[in-house]
Amino acid sequence: MSSVHTLHRIDATGRSDQRDLRRTGLDPDHWYPLARSRDLKPGKTLGVSFGGEPIVLVRPQKGAVFALEDRCAHRQVPLHLGVVKGERLLCSYHCWAYNNKGQCINVPYLDEKQTLPNGVRSYACREAYGFVFVFTGNQALAATTAFPDLPSYSNPAYKTRLLDRTINCHYSFMHENLMDMNHQFLHRSLMGSIRATLLDVREGEDWLEVDYTFARAAGKQPLGERFMIGRGGNYVPVDGQIDLMTIRTSYPYQSLKFWTAGTTEPALDLWNVYMPVDGEQRSNQTYGLIMVRKPGVPGLIHLIWPFIIWFTNGIFGQDRKIVEAEQRAFDEQGADRNQEIFPAIQRLKNLLTRKGVPLASARA
Ligand code: FES
Ligand SMILES: [Fe+2]
Repeated sequence: MSSVHTLHRIDATGRSDQRDLRRTGLDPDHWYPLARSRDLKPGKTLGVSFGGEPIVLVRPQKGAVFALEDRCAHRQVPLHLGVVKGERLLCSYHCWAYNNKGQCINVPYLDEKQTLPNGVRSYACREAYGFVFVFTGNQALAATTAFPDLPSYSNPAYKTRLLDRTINCHYSFMHENLMDMNHQFLHRSLMGSIRATLLDVREGEDWLEVDYTFARAAGKQPLGERFMIGRGGNYVPVDGQIDLMTIRTSYPYQSLKFWTAGTTEPALDLWNVYMPVDGEQRSNQTYGLIMVRKPGVPGLIHLIWPFIIWFTNGIFGQDRKIVEAEQRAFDEQGADRNQEIFPAIQRLKNLLTRKGVPLASARA
């Protein structure tokens, strides 16, 4: 077994980073999509997990979805095995009943002289963009914490694909993978030879944004990409304008927008978030929305959609293999031995470390 390493790094701005990013927890004080809305049927429950914390989602036949700690207050069995009755959740074992605030409101065999026992933790919960979002942290902060704003999702000019994958790596590898466009070589079989040029890096307290443009060095634009971002894709300036890609980590979310030269609305608007599943945060549930601007011809988007799906699956498949390999290498060596030479990624690692929290195992 490896011992716990604490790395000391100095970033481009001279800040020293004492914590090991790969052993840093994702800050729970945010709104996280923990399930797809369609996977939670009326009158049913769904057991999910955020960083090892079990959460049960409940959709009553009538009324809003709610989220509780997925452990009965009696003997800690999972409440997702229970029964939904009206707006109550009945534990499957001794039928203790919980309301949508997690209070225990009935114990069938309670003696008259006894008071009702304590209930379970409840979480703020709301549905949007095809997901059930849960505020996983300090509930006092839920109402004032920004909820993701994704205007392209409801814009009829875009068609959305929902991405849903469990990936066996720490969420930080996901952020780095999307933001570091110097890895186009990985996608050479699907994209040919493309060179990314870094244009700008901007940074705030809880965000980092990177601009790129691209040049095709060899090969042809693949069909899937062509359908997704529109014309040519040879990445040559049009009337002095260049293609622009902006990738932003707006903690804890990530987005990628791509504008073809001379356009004002992005051809591609991607939003991703990577929720840790297990307590050590060595795997993540990736949810994404790939919002693609429809071509001018009505209905054409439906014809080309299968190519877009094929292409995006191919790219994500390649990324998935490589980030899971990174996690395995980290686990074998017990430490982050990366020689990160790209300043944007050094800054990103600092941002993720700065905004993260100690893992539950480190707090215990
Ligand atoms: S374990 Fe839940 S009611 Fe007993
Ligand atoms: Fe990639």
